[in-house]
Amino acid sequence: MNILLIGTGGREHALAWKIAQSPLLNTLFIAAGNGGTSGLGVHVDLYVSDHQAVESFCGQEAIELVVVGPEAPLVDGLSDSLTKAGIHVFGPSQKAAQLEGSKQFTKAVCDRMNIPTAGYGHFTNAEDARAYVRQRGAPIVIKADGLAAGKGVTVAMQLDEALAAIDDCFDGAFGEAGAEVVVEEFLTGEEASMFFLCDGKTALPFGTAQDHKRVGDGDTGPNTGGMGAYSPAPVLSDAMQQRVLSEIVNPTMTGMAQADIPFQGVLYAGLMIDDEGPKLIEYNVRFGDPECQVLMMRLDSDLVPLLMACAKGDLAGQTADWSQDFALTVVMAAQGYPGAYEKGSVIKGLDSLDDNLIQVFHAGTAASNEVITATGGRVLAVTARGDSASQAQQRAYQAVAKIDWPEGFCRSDIGWRAVAREA
Ligand code: AMP
Ligand code: GLY
Repeated sequence: MNILLIGTGGREHALAWKIAQSPLLNTLFIAAGNGGTSGLGVHVDLYVSDHQAVESFCGQEAIELVVVGPEAPLVDGLSDSLTKAGIHVFGPSQKAAQLEGSKQFTKAVCDRMNIPTAGYGHFTNAEDARAYVRQRGAPIVIKADGLAAGKGVTVAMQLDEALAAIDDCFDGAFGEAGAEVVVEEFLTGEEASMFFLCDGKTALPFGTAQDHKRVGDGDTGPNTGGMGAYSPAPVLSDAMQQRVLSEIVNPTMTGMAQADIPFQGVLYAGLMIDDEGPKLIEYNVRFGDPECQVLMMRLDSDLVPLLMACAKGDLAGQTADWSQDFALTVVMAAQGYPGAYEKGSVIKGLDSLDDNLIQVFHAGTAASNEVITATGGRVLAVTARGDSASQAQQRAYQAVAKIDWPEGFCRSDIGWRAVAREA
C-alpha cells in the first residue's frame, strides 16, 4: 500500500524508519520529512493546513493510509477532512484531539469517569484564579488551557510565582491558549509515560518511556521538548501498567465513546506514580518526541497493520511484540536551545555509525549533496539499544562522541534514574 506520513521531526524519522520496514508498504510519501528521511520515502511539499490539497494528493497517489505525526494538524481537523473523503487516517478527529488541545476538556472527562488526577479549578478570569491560588497555597500548578507548545505550564513552588503565572496567562503570553486557566494540585512521585494504540473502542498498551524535559544535567534549567528518553520505564511494572489501563485509559475510551467522540490514534498518557498508584497528569494525542524513537527501536511487530487497524476500527485481538532490550536516546541540540540558536552548521561523522544497535534519528536537519546541516533546535536523536539501561546509555554516548558537530550539545546523564536503579 501507499502511505503518507505527515511531520518533519525526529518522531517522524522514527515512524518512517519503522514503516519503511513493512512488507505491506509499496511507497512511503513524507510531508515534509527531513535530512534523515530522504532514503526512506519520497519527500513531498504539501501545505498540510490546506486539507483540500492533502486530499487531492492522496487521490493522485492512491494513498491508503495517512499517518499524522504532530498534534497541530489533528487539532486543526485534518483527520476529519480526510476521513470524510474516504481516506484512512491514523490520528484522532478534531473533537477527540481536545484531550491534548484543552486541559479543561480532559479534566471534565476525568471527573465524569472518576479517573485519578490532580484536583483542580478552572478559571476564565485572573481575579478568581488568584483567589483560588491564595486559598490553596503553594506549591501549586498553573496551566494555560490550550496548546502552548509545551510552555504553558508553571509548577510554582512559591505563591508569588503562581500569581505571576496567572497574570502571564491572562495578559496573553500564550495567546488564545491562555484565555482560560486550569489551576492544579501539585502532585509528587515519579513521572512516566505510557502509550496506547486506540481504534475508538479498544486501547492496546503500546510501550512505556520516561523522558528528560529540562535542558541541563541533573534535570535543571528551562523546559524543552525533550532532551532524551528511554524505554521501558522501570517504574511502570506490569501490575502498574494494568492499573493505568483499567483505572485511566479504559474509562477514558468509554467516556469518549459515550460522548460520541470516539478516540482513534495514539493516546500518550503522562502519569505521576506514587504509593497510591497512577495519576493522570495529561494526555497527548500523538507519539512523544523523542519517546517515539525509543519505542520504534524496541518494536518487533510490523507497525503498518497496527496503524491501519486503528484507522479501520478493528484493533480488538491485535497484539504488539516488543524486544526485551532497553532503548535510550540522547538528543543533540543546537547551542542556545531552548533559547535562540543558529541554523546551518554542518554535521559530520554520521557515516561512521554503521551498527544495527544504533540509529541516529534526525529531528532538525536538511540534506543537500550528501552534506547534512542543522535546521532546528533539537537536531539529532542518537538512539541505542542494549541488554540494560546502562549498556544502552553507554552505546548511545559512544555514538554521540563520534558525531562531529561543534555547534551542538547534549545532556550527559540521559537515563540516570534507570541506570541508578540497576546499580
Ligand atoms: P504538562 O505540559 O501538563 O505535561 O506539564 C509539564 C510538566 O509539568 C509535567 O511533565 C510535570 O513535570 C509538571 N506537572 C504538570 N502538572 C503537574 C502537577 N499537577 N503536579 C506536579 N507536576 C506537574
Ligand atoms: N517529549 C515530550 C513530548 O513529546 O510531549
